[in-house]
Amino acid sequence: MTGWYRLAWPVLRLLPPEAAHRLAIGALGAGLVPAPRRQAFPALRTTLWGVDFDNPVGLAAGFDKDAEAIGGARALGFGFVEVGTITPRAQAGNPKPRLFRLAEDEALINRLGFNNRGIAAAARRLAGRGVGIVGVNIGANSDAADPAADYLAGLEAFHDRADYLVINVSSPNTPGLRALQGRDALAARVGRLMDARERLAPAGRRPVPLVVKIAPDLDQRDAADIAGVALDARLDGLIVSNTTVAREGLASRLQGEAGGLSGRPLFAPSTRLLAEMYRLTEGRIPLIGVGGVASADDAYAKIRAGASLVQLYTALIYQGPGLVGQIVAGLAERLAADGFDNVAAAVGADA
Ligand code: FNR
Repeated sequence: MTGWYRLAWPVLRLLPPEAAHRLAIGALGAGLVPAPRRQAFPALRTTLWGVDFDNPVGLAAGFDKDAEAIGGARALGFGFVEVGTITPRAQAGNPKPRLFRLAEDEALINRLGFNNRGIAAAARRLAGRGVGIVGVNIGANSDAADPAADYLAGLEAFHDRADYLVINVSSPNTPGLRALQGRDALAARVGRLMDARERLAPAGRRPVPLVVKIAPDLDQRDAADIAGVALDARLDGLIVSNTTVAREGLASRLQGEAGGLSGRPLFAPSTRLLAEMYRLTEGRIPLIGVGGVASADDAYAKIRAGASLVQLYTALIYQGPGLVGQIVAGLAERLAADGFDNVAAAVGADA
């Protein structure tokens, strides 16, 4: 890693977490990143939904909630960036403090509650965005009278500005949200949005890909129900997973804070669920693996478990932005060592 941030990143850790996050977003948004020296690895190129990714490693939702730092994130080496969660109206989120570093566990707990500036602000920024693949993660306002209408508003605003859209039904910080993962509720929500996106697609153009982001805290029946809905609706993908409400094997004294846990302790449970979803969907629905990825080995394990793409967030906080290039290069090495010509060939290799 070169440049100012090799020095600056550890200093950020001395600040309260949200202040550090604001500064990091500000720096990335202002282009204060090294000249994009994105290394190209032909074996890492992968195509999903007709979209060509340079590499399969993306920035997970929640880091760039308001689409302010897409170019900067791309310059760090990410193959794609997911912005959001974005709700129709701006909202403040929960009272502070609401973001906690569990340093001993290389984890975070957050109960931000979808703080964001709303659809209109993000849509303006996305209209002016440069190159690069961007997914938009949409949600409902916490006081929405009709949450279904909020998702529809997100679809309408972003369908022609996003490479894919994420229906987020898995944040632990919006009361009632995760109930949308139940079979009937999910089928209804997804069905309505799949119909709407067909209606919105210009003649002759492929409708925007729709994927659903799920929680790791699901039992086997929940998982089977979601797989069934995904297959029936011909969903374009599933993101496995969001943060967990479980607290196991943690060392940090902050483990009792309410909210969603991310980072290293999430790796094993989220990868287990990923493998389970790959099995349940028979490899027919593209999966995005996220949760605790902190090394090339972790990213490779997600791919072998069934992920076509991977994402990360928390490890970036602990290891700094140089991590992205390391993971990308390490992934190319591991594919070559195991004789895979490309990412797609390794997807589900452990299944
Ligand atoms: C998140 N995540 C998240 N996910 C989402 O769909 N919408 C969101 O707004 C947010 N916000 C958010 C804020 C913070 C502070 C964190 C740490 C995480 C979840 C994130 O996208 C990812 O699914 C999990 O964090 C697991 O990945 P990591 O962090 O273990 O790599």
